[in-house]
Amino acid sequence: MHPRIALVTGAARGIGRAIAQRLAADGCRVVLTDTDEGAGREAAEATGSAAEFLPCDVADETQVRALCHTVQQRHGRIDVLVNNAGITRDAVIWKMSSADFDRVIAVNLKGAWLLCREVAPVMRAQNDGRIINIASRGWLGNFGQSNYGPSKGGLVSLTRVLALELGRHNVLVNAVAPGAIDTPMLQAMEPAARERLREAQPTRCFGEPGDVAHAVSFLADPRTRFITGQTIYVDGGKSIGAGV
Ligand code: NAI
Repeated sequence: MHPRIALVTGAARGIGRAIAQRLAADGCRVVLTDTDEGAGREAAEATGSAAEFLPCDVADETQVRALCHTVQQRHGRIDVLVNNAGITRDAVIWKMSSADFDRVIAVNLKGAWLLCREVAPVMRAQNDGRIINIASRGWLGNFGQSNYGPSKGGLVSLTRVLALELGRHNVLVNAVAPGAIDTPMLQAMEPAARERLREAQPTRCFGEPGDVAHAVSFLADPRTRFITGQTIYVDGGKSIGAGV
């Protein structure tokens, strides 16, 4: 039995790093990729001997092609793709530049699309594969995110379309939509605002990167074979939408 090859984007830190570590613990050989080469190499080292780092800006078509080509050449297959790289550039729409709209769409949506386009033929030929897109609960709508929300909504739609196109080839495509996860972004919030946010979670607590990685691990597991086109919320119930 060959080792399963997993490719995780935006894996230098945060949720992507936790996903890479979890997939390695699950027995995958993991290729971490990121624009941050220093942190990416360090994350791969921390993940262990079954991990390696390759740099790539997911918004750059040439770099994405080269990355997938290298992984194919080295390993001969790609079993799991996790599109995790993502950015925010928040502002209310009347203060948002079109450059900030374009960059968020380019990384969060087109970046995932570019990776999927390279990996889909590989997985089709294998008649086996798992694609997991890291969306966000924010696709349902957050104030100040008229770029990020549509980028993640687009990712949910891309997930559904590719599930239709690839299902007959035994390639399952799902999304994970995290809510408030305790990452440096959240830790940098002013304490009173952070407390209000915590109180707004039905579970009254924040998630950890490992909670997102756990959902990814489940979707990537070969025993998960009849779930596709779905979005799993890892958000403490925030997406239920009812008031406190
Ligand atoms: P983070 O900012 O800590 O890490 C993102 C990683 O992606 C960084 O290492 C960064 O260098 C990399 N990256 C950025 N642009 C890139 C590009 N063009 N090409 C390749 N790599 C690139 O973010 P975090 O919090 O770990 O989020 C990971 C994913 O989870 C993102 O897609 C984010 O939108 C999503 N998410 C995060 C939530 C949170 O509470 N942290 C909530 C909901 C969704």
